[in-house]
Amino acid sequence: MAKLRVGLVYGGRSVEHEVSLQSATSILRNLDPSRYEVWLVAIDHDGRWRLGAPGTSLETALARGVPVQLPATPEQNALQPVGAGPGAPVALDVLFPIVHGHGGEDGTLQGLLELAGLPYVGSGVLGSAVQMDKEVSKRLLVQAGIPVTPWRVVHEQELARDAKGVAVRIADELGLPLFVKPANSGSSVGIAKIKDVKALPRALAEATRYDTKLIVETGLDAREIEVAVLGNEEPEASVPGEIRPRREWYDYEAKYVDESTELLVPAPLSDEESERVRDLALRAFRALEGSGLGRVDFLMERATGAFYLNEINSLPGFTEVSMYPRLWEATGLPYPQLLDRLIELALARHARRSKLETLFRRG
Ligand SMILES: Nc1ncnc2c1ncn2[C@@H]1O[C@H](COP(=O)(O)OP(=O)(O)O)[C@@H](O)[C@H]1O
Ligand SMILES: [Mg+2]
Repeated sequence: MAKLRVGLVYGGRSVEHEVSLQSATSILRNLDPSRYEVWLVAIDHDGRWRLGAPGTSLETALARGVPVQLPATPEQNALQPVGAGPGAPVALDVLFPIVHGHGGEDGTLQGLLELAGLPYVGSGVLGSAVQMDKEVSKRLLVQAGIPVTPWRVVHEQELARDAKGVAVRIADELGLPLFVKPANSGSSVGIAKIKDVKALPRALAEATRYDTKLIVETGLDAREIEVAVLGNEEPEASVPGEIRPRREWYDYEAKYVDESTELLVPAPLSDEESERVRDLALRAFRALEGSGLGRVDFLMERATGAFYLNEINSLPGFTEVSMYPRLWEATGLPYPQLLDRLIELALARHARRSKLETLFRRG
């Protein structure tokens, strides 16, 4: 049987570019070479796409790959060389995007892939977009009866008018400590924990560097529990895992620098707690239009044992030591088979959607 041509899309124009590179390294290492011919689709810091033929290293494709573009029309040979550059058009069977944050995880890349008529791993345009936006996701989760921490939304313009007034009102309504977050963020970039209302205006201003819409949440004293979800119409939940940062909260340092952050797989929870959080994860995945994969992150309040949904990541970190693949490994699905399954799910979703009518026939 001919090998499936997979395009591994990585890098991207976001603060999570380097994280994406690490995930892509692991995926490349674990895609079964007897089944897949892997083409590298590197997106550089300026948003330019470069193609690396099978066998090229991720770094080489990023620095010196052939400049290509993906026309927003369904073509046979999807990736086209740009201008008079070298190389011939390349046809791919499925794309595996592992681009985090803006322009990767927020539905924009998915929109381009839809227009190009290509199957791709992960959630579609709508699911990716709502999962990326912490404020819209909260509204949908509340509607689905899934507990989230109390929050307020703040728009940049309100801060320009009266930052101090906004800060005092919010601290009054939500209490302290608080978490300030750009509505669209990842890797804890732009997030601050606030214990004194005086520090709030500055934290809000800092967060507007990353988004014009912010959320402020009540800070909980909580354990951090994560569940991996896999599937399309009938998603399945992994065993839960737990993250124990040595630092006060799971900030950028704790995620990528501090090696003493502990990942416990499975999380030490009772059977009842574990079932409860898995069920919430599946309901949240459906409420936020997930498909393919998603990592659902919870805060488990220490005092009450209650779970609050913190966020869903539609393209979670994917190195061998990342939570998402480790949770599936612990649930009985090793990394290479997890990749097979994600590609199958991408093809199945595309096949089903391709059968939808594009013309209205009467009668
Ligand atoms: N309401 C909260 N209460 C307690 N800790 C929180 C709260 N919100 C966020 N955190 C801490 O901040 C970290 C990052 O927040 P999160 O919303 O997950 O942003 P990101 O998308 O950048 O991962 C969490 O993993 C947790 O440690
Ligand atoms: Mg998070």
